[in-house]
Amino acid sequence: MSKRRKVIVANWKMNGRLTSGLNLAQEVAARAMEERPLPFDVVLCPPTTLLWPVAETLMGSGVMLGGQDCHYANHGAYTGDISAGMLVDLSCRYVILGHSERRMAYGEDNALIAKKVAAAQLAGLVTVVCVGETLDQRAAGGAEAAIVTQLLESLPDRYHPAQLIVAYEPIWAIGSGQTPEVEEISAVHRKLREALGEAGVAVPIIYGGSVAIGNAGLIMKDPDVDGVLVGAASLSADGFWAIAEKAQ
Ligand code: 13P
Repeated sequence: MSKRRKVIVANWKMNGRLTSGLNLAQEVAARAMEERPLPFDVVLCPPTTLLWPVAETLMGSGVMLGGQDCHYANHGAYTGDISAGMLVDLSCRYVILGHSERRMAYGEDNALIAKKVAAAQLAGLVTVVCVGETLDQRAAGGAEAAIVTQLLESLPDRYHPAQLIVAYEPIWAIGSGQTPEVEEISAVHRKLREALGEAGVAVPIIYGGSVAIGNAGLIMKDPDVDGVLVGAASLSADGFWAIAEKAQ
């Protein structure tokens, strides 16, 4: 078994209004309080509007907070954006970067993501860097090589492995109810770790894409899987916590 602590990350995406988001965070915090000290790390990534109220709700619960994206600049004329330092101001310790939804909807490429990773790490955040293949890449074979290239290009030349989590999220698995076989996930994770070299030994590599109560246990039992990045299923406290508990 790996000595890496399992990490369970909730990506709420663009979901949660003030009342519903706070209720959800309160329920997750309550479950965490019942179980302290937590045997795994739990991170909630709500929409930006909810970061501060959720931060207040999570205080003392052991559950940590993350943003879903940030800009590479510290400040400046970037309408609508948020900097890594601003996330830190809101008590974030993590930030998701390079999610496929941002790569596809906003044309974010590896070079841009590498700049964001550098900025976020400089600000002290742990960066959750997402990579994953399309269905076409998978069908054509060679998906593993494409994912490895994507990861290496999405990292700045000098990065801090202690502030890195890699999330393997096959694009076709996100929101589709489909997941790769555990053996396939495991093989990709090993390839990604190998690509990181010596620095990769301590880097958590987590899986995302249709993670649910029914598959989380099997996926996380694999020693090459250090946790999960949960989308839709993280919008229910009961469901999310049931998934988190499968990390044990
Ligand atoms: P789903 O769990 O809804 O498939 O989303 C996965 C994801 O994109 C998490 O970042």
